[in-house]
Amino acid sequence: MRSIASRMSVMTGEGALSVYARAKELESQGHSIIHLELGEPDFHPGPSVIESATRALAEGKDRYCAVAGLPALREEIAAYLKRTRNIDVSAANIVTAPGCKAALFFAMMALLEPGDEVLYPDPGFPGYASIALGLGAVPVPFELSSRNHFQPNPSEIAGKITRRTRMMITNSPGNPTGTVYTDAVQRALAEIAVKHDLWVLSDEIYARIIYGSEYISMLRYPGMEERTLIIDGFSKSFAMTGWRLGYTVAPPEVVSALLMMAVNTYTCVNEFVQYGAIDAMRDREGSTPRMVAEFARRRERFVHNLNQVPGFQCEAPEGAFYAWVDIRGTGTSAEEICRVLLEDGGVAAIPGAAFGPSGRDFVRFSFASSVENLDEAAARIKRASTVWQGTLAER
Ligand SMILES: Cc1ncc(COP(=O)(O)O)c(C=O)c1O
Repeated sequence: MRSIASRMSVMTGEGALSVYARAKELESQGHSIIHLELGEPDFHPGPSVIESATRALAEGKDRYCAVAGLPALREEIAAYLKRTRNIDVSAANIVTAPGCKAALFFAMMALLEPGDEVLYPDPGFPGYASIALGLGAVPVPFELSSRNHFQPNPSEIAGKITRRTRMMITNSPGNPTGTVYTDAVQRALAEIAVKHDLWVLSDEIYARIIYGSEYISMLRYPGMEERTLIIDGFSKSFAMTGWRLGYTVAPPEVVSALLMMAVNTYTCVNEFVQYGAIDAMRDREGSTPRMVAEFARRRERFVHNLNQVPGFQCEAPEGAFYAWVDIRGTGTSAEEICRVLLEDGGVAAIPGAAFGPSGRDFVRFSFASSVENLDEAAARIKRASTVWQGTLAER
C-alpha cells in the first residue's frame, strides 16, 4: 500500500510561515498588513556582493563544484571567524550547506541514533525539536524562563541528563528571546557537555547581531573543540536569506560524515552564490555594522512603544531582531492576541507557543522592518488592545 513515511507525521512546520500565508491571503483581499512575523532582515547585500555573484555567473561559475564549498570561501569563513569571534578553525573544518536549516538537519542526521536524547532550548527555533523527532531521536526541552531573563539554567539541564543524552543544542543570541547567554552560563553548559561527553550544536546564526559586549562562541570553552559544531550562515548577518547559504564548523570525523551527507543530497552549494558570499564576508562596504546599528535604533524605539501597550511587557533583547513580549497582563491568550492583531489590527506576529510550550504566554514581533512600519505597527497594536482591555474590564 502506498503511504507517507511515519516520520513525516511527527515533524512540525513553522508558525511564522503559516502566519505569513494568512497575512498574504488578507493582503490579497485588500487589507493592509505590517509583516512582523518573518525572521528576515529588510536589508539587501551591498553592490559589491551582487557584483561578485553576477560576475561569477557571467564567467560561467555555474557548475558543480567542491562538495565542502569552494576552498576560497572556506578560507574566508575561517578568517572571518577568527576576526569576529576569535576562534581558530581551518578551512578543513568547514562544510557549506544550502542554508543553516539544512546544516542543522545534516549535522543531527550525522550524529543521532534513534532514541538518543537531544537537549534544546524552549522556547527555541522550531526546527530543533522537529528535526530530532523526524530522525527518531527524543527532543528534551530546557526552559528559558522570564524569571531567569531567558538564560538557560545549567542545574535544570544537568538534572535532565540520562544515559541516552547525546547532544545539547545552544542558540545564542537566541530566537525567539534574543538572549545572549552569559559567559558563566556557557562555561557551565560546556562543563556539563564535557562531563557527559555530549555533542554540542551551537547555532550561532545571530552572532553578529548583538547590542552589547563581545560575542563568545561555545567553541572557546575548555574541552569544546572536539565536541562542538557551530552552525552559521549568511541569512541574518549578511541579509542574504534567499541566497540559501550556511555552513558547519566541525571536528574532522564529523566533517567526513557531513561530506557524505552532501554527496548523497545537495552535492555542493551554488557556485556563483559562493563568490558573492566571499565578498559579503570581507564586508568592504560596512553593511553588517550599519544594519546592526539600525536594528539597535529600532529595538530601543519599538520595545519602548510595545511597553506602552496595556498588558504587554517586553525586555530589550540583547541580540537578534525579535521583541519577545510577555502578554500575561492582557488576560487574553497569545493566539487570540495574534488573531486580533492580524485580522482586525493589520499586524502579523507569532504566538509564542510556535516556539515551544514555554513560549505560551508570549508573542514574537520581528523588528527587522522600517522605523515607519514599526511606528505604524505600534499604533495599530495600541488601537487593537482595546479588545483585551475590554476583557480585563469585564473581570
Ligand atoms: C535560530 C535559527 N537557526 C537557523 C535558522 C535557519 O536559517 P537559514 O535561513 O540559514 O536556513 C533560523 C532562521 O530563522 C534561525 O532563527
